[in-house]
Amino acid sequence: MSAAALPTLEGYRLRLRPPAAADLPALHDWYNDPETVAPFDRFSVDTLSDFEAAVRDAPGDPGSLAPRFVVERKSDSRSIGFVGHYQAHPVLETVDVWYVLGERSERGKGYGTESVGLLVDYLFHSMQVERVGATIDVENTASYRLVEKLGFRREGVLRSALFHHSRWHDVAVYGVTRADWAARPRRA
Ligand SMILES: CC(C)(COP(=O)(O)OP(=O)(O)OC[C@H]1O[C@@H](n2cnc3c(N)ncnc32)[C@H](O)[C@@H]1OP(=O)(O)O)[C@@H](O)C(=O)NCCC(=O)NCCS
Repeated sequence: MSAAALPTLEGYRLRLRPPAAADLPALHDWYNDPETVAPFDRFSVDTLSDFEAAVRDAPGDPGSLAPRFVVERKSDSRSIGFVGHYQAHPVLETVDVWYVLGERSERGKGYGTESVGLLVDYLFHSMQVERVGATIDVENTASYRLVEKLGFRREGVLRSALFHHSRWHDVAVYGVTRADWAARPRRA
């Protein structure tokens, strides 16, 4: 299960492109802001140099949780978020996605859904996987509605699977198969 070197992915309103060196300070600020990335997730602080190394090394590391694409709005070339994917299990041949709209004022406008749609499309075209997944805190309504809009199905719930904000949280397992993805309605 390997991915080719990352291309730029063109959508309707957005493009996803590999991070450039000039993007990293802003991405690092989002990544290190608990209000931005972690209302429903564990949070840990990275130094800028650790973060830069993680982004640089990610293309050679299928398990890396570093950002793999910057989400850029096409109308003004503004970066508004970042997304990633990682081999989520040591044996199973599945890849999981994650996503953050770093510009919080840009949330709720469909950009998250378009970003993840572009990413999933790319993964099915570039990797020999039959399933793309996501694990989502059951309280993260925006995140699970986003993947459900894209055709992901809730396959189960891992109880008490993630510790954050002083307690254990249940996590929903979502997935979309290659066949589901090929059959989904497309925008005209
Ligand atoms: C999750 C996230 C990427 C969603 O991005 P977004 O651009 O706001 O999402 P969209 O505008 O495409 O909306 C997707 C769906 O979620 C719903 N939604 C968006 N924000 C919501 C909120 N705060 N509460 C409830 N539903 C919400 C939208 O209404 C839409 O569903 P609908 O069309 O059925 O109404 C964004 O909220 C975010 O970056 N959150 C913090 C990081 C995070 O939790 N990432 C996911 C980790 S698994």
